[in-house]
Amino acid sequence: MAEAAKVTNMPAAQSKALPFKRVLLKMSGEVLMGNKEFGIDPSVVARVASDVKEAIGMGIEVCIVVGAGNIFRGVSGASQGMDRTTADYMGMLGICINALALQNALENLGVATRVQSAIRMDAICEPYIRRKAMRHMEKGRVVIFAAGTGNPYFTTDTTGALRASEMDCDAIFKGTKVDGVYTADPFKDPSATHFDKISYMDVLTKDLKVMDATAISLARENKVPIVIFNIRETGNFAKVLKGEGKCTVVSN
Ligand code: GTP
Repeated sequence: MAEAAKVTNMPAAQSKALPFKRVLLKMSGEVLMGNKEFGIDPSVVARVASDVKEAIGMGIEVCIVVGAGNIFRGVSGASQGMDRTTADYMGMLGICINALALQNALENLGVATRVQSAIRMDAICEPYIRRKAMRHMEKGRVVIFAAGTGNPYFTTDTTGALRASEMDCDAIFKGTKVDGVYTADPFKDPSATHFDKISYMDVLTKDLKVMDATAISLARENKVPIVIFNIRETGNFAKVLKGEGKCTVVSN
């Protein structure tokens, strides 16, 4: 495919005013299926891509980690009697499908994008090379990290925390279907209250299910804040990046 149209970053002086310079967007595969029961809804992928384009237009460097729950879940495969490692590799292949869908949607909007996979599949995308990923982002390209960490037994949340640490990201933006962390599930308990800010330790000790414990510990160790926000709301990613949208910040 021809190189996508050039993306112009904002002047440095303008981007300095924003709280973030480089972020990792982590979203579950389920986000991409919209209201479908399985697979990919192209209109949702296009909408997410336009939100990412908005962030890039603000001069923010963005990389993405996506899950594969819309295609295949390693854990549920294993619970149905599959070998866990095989099920996890199937999940990693599912991530690659989502990564290519996102790349395609971003390039349709003129956003230069590179997919880098933790498991080599050279005919399809680049291998994961940290320094190359950094250069891509400095040039305003969106880097999508595919195939998780490349290892079974790790989640895409952990991949998000790992890549965000490696890429020196200012924050992990975890796009979910809720606008942050609550004392209880806000869909089930109307008295649940929203946290604007919470510590990594509180998330772990209260078992708040923001991300799995390995991911939270890794983010904590490397001092990468996690911003939980609602990705289903159009334009919300840019809003939260500007410090305006409703979210929960997990930090020390
Ligand atoms: P710069 O050299 O920084 O400009 O980066 P670049 O990505 O434009 O240059 P490169 O020559 O590395 O890549 C050109 C195109 O080939 C891009 O679309 C890359 O994503 C793609 N590409 C690079 N390496 C691989 C690979 O190993 N496999 C696949 N499938 N594509 C690759």
